[in-house]
Amino acid sequence: MSDDASALHDSPGARLASLVERRWATISLLVIVIFVAVAAFAGIHQAAMPQARVEMVSPTRLHLGGEFVETNLGSAVEPDGTVTVRALGQQYSFTPQCMIVPTDTLITFRAASPDVIHGFLIEGTNVNTMLVPGYVSTIHVRFERPGDHLMPCQEFCGVGHEGMWAKVRVIDRAEFLKMAETKPRLTCVE
Ligand code: CUA
Repeated sequence: MSDDASALHDSPGARLASLVERRWATISLLVIVIFVAVAAFAGIHQAAMPQARVEMVSPTRLHLGGEFVETNLGSAVEPDGTVTVRALGQQYSFTPQCMIVPTDTLITFRAASPDVIHGFLIEGTNVNTMLVPGYVSTIHVRFERPGDHLMPCQEFCGVGHEGMWAKVRVIDRAEFLKMAETKPRLTCVE
């Protein structure tokens, strides 16, 4: 190194410059580390947390009483005009096997499983959730047009998984309300 260069390198100005540079390098690294930590925390925290509103139900007592007793399954018109459909998914069927709902109505599906995890998916809609033993799965949907939708179980639940499916039948709202006048719980099981 020439005398001039080493003089320049050792000058107070150069030392200050390299000090400032190192400080900023540290700060920018810290900023990156903080961002990564925040993103990791947010992701892991969210994934590890249960849903904001969790309803629990004893899987071994579902059939004995309460909301998911057999006579309470199917579609019911609520006082506010919405429709609640209660269903069970168990190895290897859904009850009711055919669920009936009206068009242009807020539908609330409430479903549970007494045995293992099943899938609750309605084709042609964004309904896609899991039935986890011990919890009530609640999902809202609205159907615009009449028609049938297949509802295959989409979580592997055992040897009969492939054959586990149900159907959601959407019918005209007026027709549905007329049927509901005579029966408190509706299904389209034949
Ligand atoms: Cu139930 Cu797969």
